Amino acid sequence: MAGLCFQYWEESELIHVGAEASVSSGLWLGIPAVLKSRRRRGYRHLELDNRLTKSRISVEAKVLSRLQITEFSAPRLLQINQEEGWMVLSILEGNPIYQSLVDGTRGVDDMFEIGMKIRELHELGFSHGDLTTHNIMIDENGKISLLDFGLSRISAELEHMGQDLQVLNECLSASHSELENAMDVVLRGYSSFSSDESPYSPDSVISRFNQIRNRVRYLG
Ligand SMILES: Nc1ncnc2c1ncn2[C@@H]1O[C@H](COP(=O)(O)OP(=O)(O)OP(=O)(O)O)[C@@H](O)[C@H]1O
Ligand SMILES: [Mg+2]
Repeated sequence: MAGLCFQYWEESELIHVGAEASVSSGLWLGIPAVLKSRRRRGYRHLELDNRLTKSRISVEAKVLSRLQITEFSAPRLLQINQEEGWMVLSILEGNPIYQSLVDGTRGVDDMFEIGMKIRELHELGFSHGDLTTHNIMIDENGKISLLDFGLSRISAELEHMGQDLQVLNECLSASHSELENAMDVVLRGYSSFSSDESPYSPDSVISRFNQIRNRVRYLG
């Protein structure tokens, strides 16, 4: 990591190396934080790669800084360098819910809170864009937070919101098929949270989700 970041960052542990990003924990100016750096994808054209990296980072930073002024539970953005492709975020307590669902320490009951959290995000006007169980954090008290907003929409449309539910639905069927009726519980949570402030009611998003689900089934 070059420049400024190097001076202020004291790394302790690499916690994730993915296709798109690597994430490590450490201290940022003495504050516990994570450093998320976008990795270069070798097979993509350099210029295209740079453009994609910048756009994902700038979307994620924009969404996080807007969420920061609400009560929504997501990391706080502490520092960003778009050119170099990294940002520093506050640490979220807990772990991605993926592993806890696989090992059975968490289960279908947590789906209600997840549904509520998705609705809360949609009511603020955002869609997430990549709602898998790797991007949903749960702490020891069962509190849900979301992360990884690089594919979010700031002024989300009905289709984007329906897609969020569909991505989660596909993830639950593919990776957590032992959880019975998990998506039904997500939808119950989703419907229970409504302040009438969004142009898209929970019912309208769920009905778009059902259309998308049928489209996908039909196309096989
Ligand atoms: N603020 C945070 N606090 C705690 N853990 C985090 C935080 N940000 C990221 N992580 C951890 O790092 C993982 C990857 O982060 P993130 O989902 O933001 O990257 P990614 O874009 O999915 O990377 P890739 O697509 O390469 O897998 C998360 O699943 C989580 O375990
Ligand atoms: Mg992720």
